[in-house]
Amino acid sequence: MHCLGEKSLSAATQALPEGGLALVCGASGGIGSALSSKLRADRRFAAVVELSRGGSPPLDLLDEARIAAAAAHVAATGMDIRLLIVATGVLEGEGCHAEKSWRQLDAHALAKSLAVNAIGPALLIKHFMPLLPRSGRCVFAALSARVGSIGDNRLGGWYSYRAAKAALNQVLRSAAVELKRTRPEAICVALHPGTVDTGLTRAFAKRGLEVQNPDTAAAGILNTLDRLDSADSGGFFDQHGRGIPW
Ligand SMILES: NC(=O)c1ccc[n+]([C@@H]2O[C@H](COP(=O)([O-])OP(=O)(O)OC[C@H]3O[C@@H](n4cnc5c(N)ncnc54)[C@H](OP(=O)(O)O)[C@@H]3O)[C@@H](O)[C@H]2O)c1
Repeated sequence: MHCLGEKSLSAATQALPEGGLALVCGASGGIGSALSSKLRADRRFAAVVELSRGGSPPLDLLDEARIAAAAAHVAATGMDIRLLIVATGVLEGEGCHAEKSWRQLDAHALAKSLAVNAIGPALLIKHFMPLLPRSGRCVFAALSARVGSIGDNRLGGWYSYRAAKAALNQVLRSAAVELKRTRPEAICVALHPGTVDTGLTRAFAKRGLEVQNPDTAAAGILNTLDRLDSADSGGFFDQHGRGIPW
């Protein structure tokens, strides 16, 4: 496991194994739905399970009982999970704020962002990691954000979202260490999808940024996932497979 998460992936493409289950949490979102569509079209997995708040069973990251019930539902399929992507997240709205200044810091908004962006994925780890197969390649990837990088923070602002994504990255790193003890071929990573035109970003000016549509972002994410091997577990990568500083 490399230490800084800044190693870029090699260009060699390693296809994910055929069969097994691919699971998308947050499949109702802009990037999550594009990922689900691509995974279904690829037919590389025997089944694609889409979980979301409005789905059945419902997956609400603020409700651990629902997370446990969703995990039990997936376990009951008896299929090996070969890919689990966490594509949930919130930046603004639902009680969260994209603060421009410390003057806008609000305890409830900070707590809400942490709950959805960091604690929710941590609970997914708690309930879904034990379901991962003990042998063979499998990937647990959560969509983080480059703005969660402390080393890359030059603009400031977005306090709660940045802090929550930094917390998520640390949670993923710890999970990668623990995962390796029982599942040496498994991979756990944080990913930045690029700037993507979805509901999450729609309210923000994106001048000067390379804004992708969700289909392009999903293709980049899946390509990056294909190129990961177990030595990359615990890393933080962008949609081009480039390492991002913590
Ligand atoms: N778009 C970008 O430019 C960009 C850049 C960097 C990182 N990201 C990250 O990429 C991920 C996906 O973002 P997106 O752009 O696709 O945003 P999006 O279209 O707003 O989708 C967000 C998803 O999160 C789900 N969600 C929100 N709160 C939830 C909760 N309490 N429980 C369960 N699900 C919940 C939403 O479910 P509902 O449909 O039920 O609301 C939706 O499926 C996020 O982690 C985001 O931080 C995005």
